Amino acid sequence: MAWTTIHKQPLPSESTPNLIDEEAMRTPFSWETARTELAGLPEGGLNIAYEAVDRQVQNGLGETIALRWLGKNGERREYSYAELASLSDRFANLLERLGIDKGDRICVLTGRIPELHISALGTLKAGAIFCPLFSAFGPEPLRTRLVKSRARLLVTTSALYQRKIQPQRAQLPDLEHVLLVDSSDGDGTHSLRALLEAESSQRPPPTTLPEDRALLHFTSGTTGTPKGAVHVHDAVTAHRLTGRWALDLRPGDIYWCTADPGWVTGVSYGIIAPLVNGVTLVVDEAEFNARRWYSILEQEKVNVWYTAPTAIRMLMKAGIDTARGYDLSALRFMASVGEPLNPEAVFWGLEALGRPFHDTWWQTETGAIMIANTRSQDIHPGSMGRPLPGIEAAIVRRRPEGGVDLLEPGEEGELALRVGWPSMFRDYLEDEAHYRQCFAADWYLSGDLATRDSDGYFWFLGRIDDVIKTSGHLIGPFEVENVLMEHPAVAETGMIGKPDEFAGQIVKVFVALKSGYAPSDALRRELLSFARTRLGPTVAPRELEFMSDLPKTRSGKIMRRLLRAQELGQSLGDLSTLENQEEQEP
Ligand code: WT7
Repeated sequence: MAWTTIHKQPLPSESTPNLIDEEAMRTPFSWETARTELAGLPEGGLNIAYEAVDRQVQNGLGETIALRWLGKNGERREYSYAELASLSDRFANLLERLGIDKGDRICVLTGRIPELHISALGTLKAGAIFCPLFSAFGPEPLRTRLVKSRARLLVTTSALYQRKIQPQRAQLPDLEHVLLVDSSDGDGTHSLRALLEAESSQRPPPTTLPEDRALLHFTSGTTGTPKGAVHVHDAVTAHRLTGRWALDLRPGDIYWCTADPGWVTGVSYGIIAPLVNGVTLVVDEAEFNARRWYSILEQEKVNVWYTAPTAIRMLMKAGIDTARGYDLSALRFMASVGEPLNPEAVFWGLEALGRPFHDTWWQTETGAIMIANTRSQDIHPGSMGRPLPGIEAAIVRRRPEGGVDLLEPGEEGELALRVGWPSMFRDYLEDEAHYRQCFAADWYLSGDLATRDSDGYFWFLGRIDDVIKTSGHLIGPFEVENVLMEHPAVAETGMIGKPDEFAGQIVKVFVALKSGYAPSDALRRELLSFARTRLGPTVAPRELEFMSDLPKTRSGKIMRRLLRAQELGQSLGDLSTLENQEEQEP
């Protein structure tokens, strides 16, 4: 299936990969043993933030730079491991003073700034649950997530607060405290800086247990509001080892993860995995810009770089000559995640940057990388790679009566993982039914359609459900369609992902109007702007097409599959008979 393989290079002796022989690792490996390599806490306790910073201080990395922040206007701030440890202690003390209890949800809505990292680590130390909110979300997705998480405290900036939260604060009865990172006390808000200064930087070690809840990441499905995937402190066992194996992280590395911590990659591999592996984290506040990115790789001497296909395609667009102007000799390893990484992008990396991109696969629910092209293995461009040690992956077909059939190499089916790895989600917040649907026998079913070749490499084929990926962000149809339905002109609407050269897919909606309304360019613009104001630029549809009627099942469900087929110019078949077919809920 691989049309070309990139064979592993002879390795210079000073840089042997962390994971040399996956197969030899697989047999003796156990997550129980892996857990014992962590410092842990008295009486069997475990805490992600303690492993990420305090343990590094104890190991002599106190003065090492943990976080190097590059502001969008050229500012630079550095935090050592010791500083992160004491600032996060202050934050945890503050939460305690404000009466935040173990298990309470703390939301953070900021751009990529160090206060986000400090709040995340402090929340974890206090035993509360950290829930990041993406700063480009509009008021609607933010309200849904704040309501569903029942967050008691929000850390944000004054601009984001005024634009997106303050106007709907009355609808957020659980939200008791709003702390602003850049402002003095105001109407219903407090200055985070002033509060932190008043706190002690000393604190006894955390009292969390491995199975205590730690992280909450919202993710979309086909139906209903976003689901809140909950992870526990034991996830750090997987963050640490997958960071070592799949990203080849080692103490002293300069590491840059371009993902925003508003999504799971930016937390698992933008905060936890790098810190727990003792590296220096580069955090860039600015948005994508090809020259800026190359300058960062060059000037910060980045050794390991974790990014996404959309960004790689944008770099490819900027041209190979742009890349050639920079000294990228510090780069040892480059990896990608979030959407299919086309073989062209892998080869382009080799040609333009001197290294191939290594694809990795995982999900919000898996919490950590499950499948990867690791540094010591041949890369099969276009393939997601092979399961890491401790991970058993298979291609399966669900049996209608329950359980699964395991499929053979070459057969297409659902990508499944045998349960039991520590970063697996433990729950969808208040949605036990959806959680249970993700499992059959002892397999977690990913919702991805894939195949495995006879060499054990996994190949992504698509999603089984109707969620889409745009610039690596997972978007569910429900949130988008729901907002459009609030417009008085809209009778029905269906969302699809339309293939796009750079974003992978863009959000496209089909709209049928109520009687009394006629399609026009003005109405199209109005609807797009209506959606954009409420949803924010990431989630809002980029294209809108009017239809007189949308294809539906007999029970009235929009058949997005047919909308997709129409968009791609595939045959629609006979709509009148299709209307009588019930579409299966995945
Ligand atoms: C979905 C999960 C990736 C972690 C952060 C996002 C798609 C992920 C790949 C890949 C093709 C990929 C899948 C998956 N996806 N990695 N290497 N190749 N598709 O997590 O937002 O929960 O998205 O992203 O469809 O199910 P997420």
